[in-house]
Amino acid sequence: MSLLRRKSLDTVTVHEAGRQLVRTLSWPHLIALGIGAIVGTGIYTLIGVGANLAGPAVLISFAIAGAVCACAALSYAELATMMPASGSAYTYSYTALGEIFAWVVGWSLILEYSLVVSTVAVGWSGYFVGFLEWVNSQMGIDIRLPLALSAGPHVEGGVFNLPAVLITWLVAGGLMLGTKESATLNAVLVVLKLIALGVFIAVALPAFDSANLQPFMPYGFAKSLGPDGLERGVMAAAAIIFFAFYGFDAIATAAEETKNPGRDLSIGIIGSMVGCTIVYMLVALAAVGAMSYAVFGSSAEPLALIMRQLGHPTAALIIGVVAIVALPTVLLAFMFGQSRVFFVMGRDGMLPRRLSNVSKRTGTPVATTLFSALLVSALAGVARLDEIAALANAGTLAAFTAVGVCLVVMRRREPDRARTFRTPLAWIVGPAAALGCVYLFFSLPHSTQLYFLIWNVIGLAVYFLYSRRNAVLGR
Ligand code: ALA
Repeated sequence: MSLLRRKSLDTVTVHEAGRQLVRTLSWPHLIALGIGAIVGTGIYTLIGVGANLAGPAVLISFAIAGAVCACAALSYAELATMMPASGSAYTYSYTALGEIFAWVVGWSLILEYSLVVSTVAVGWSGYFVGFLEWVNSQMGIDIRLPLALSAGPHVEGGVFNLPAVLITWLVAGGLMLGTKESATLNAVLVVLKLIALGVFIAVALPAFDSANLQPFMPYGFAKSLGPDGLERGVMAAAAIIFFAFYGFDAIATAAEETKNPGRDLSIGIIGSMVGCTIVYMLVALAAVGAMSYAVFGSSAEPLALIMRQLGHPTAALIIGVVAIVALPTVLLAFMFGQSRVFFVMGRDGMLPRRLSNVSKRTGTPVATTLFSALLVSALAGVARLDEIAALANAGTLAAFTAVGVCLVVMRRREPDRARTFRTPLAWIVGPAAALGCVYLFFSLPHSTQLYFLIWNVIGLAVYFLYSRRNAVLGR
């Protein structure tokens, strides 16, 4: 029975002194944190991977991934305002479903946050290396990195992705200086990032040619194995494109640092989610309409490539530079989220308690941030973009599935409990989030599902050997 022991809803936001975070954020910070976390490598780079897997029907993939994420976001909003405690999906699962489920979710969140940071760092490095190439070709200044230091070992000639490692450490440094300062800088970068996507839409949409949408769905709908060994189809693409949509959950992990969680969290989560979905659909429509997907599908910088092909090198440069300057906001948000997950799991005794120590000077968990940065930068140095993105998605899908289930369980168990935000049609939205996520999970590459299983077998071993005995709830 102790596997299913649960946190009480009454004490979930009460913590011992010295293990509390400082409340410094309000909703504009949260929307900025949300969009900062959402708009990143997904739309800037993986849109090409998605188009390659689905053809022009990647538009449907975007719609499906967006719809599933919207259901998950709505579920998050209700739970986050009901339990404004750090740890998001992990904490909700601990309260609604029980410890073993919370463990699996927390362990999946660690996978999600780590791999998103590594993925985006690798994506960033691609744009950065491209920019150095541009400086070399246009300005004649040779500041290029040797290939061995600009890509991981999966690329021929590559050994170690140095820019990806450096950017990770730069962001971790900013984070350790304190939450609020980073959140304000983040807001400025978010605006830049949206302007660049606006430029893309404004330039690409007028070049729309419906001939580019033919054939619309060359690889079918459900995931299927092609002759080249690649698993394709609209759903296979949706399972990857899903990466572009999440990040709003990073807001929920900031609940304990929010001044007025009831109002701010729901505005932050839903506002950033809706805004991003609209922008994405326009970007995707502009991209597949402007040019055959075959042209940009395998590019490392698809949006910039489309701009160049349409004869707008300045727009391409703007998009490239903004990606370099602003993609780190995604790193920031996910690193922030990850250190918080470690923090809460440490505070609960599920991981070593040291992880929940808060710095007296900044009120942030400096040790966990350092630990996270070590882990994710090492991964970023050697990993392959599409593989780590898919695995990050697997972790996220597991967490979102749990959140959909938690919504329904809490509605049943605590029907009269005050909810600052009530999810509309919760009995449809919760199950739709959970089932949608399960379907997306099974649309991921087979190898990703296997890695995810291995990750969780390791996790359960840690749980039974350490966490179960050390959990604060058990004492
Ligand atoms: N949604 C984030 C991105 O696209 C993770 O980079």
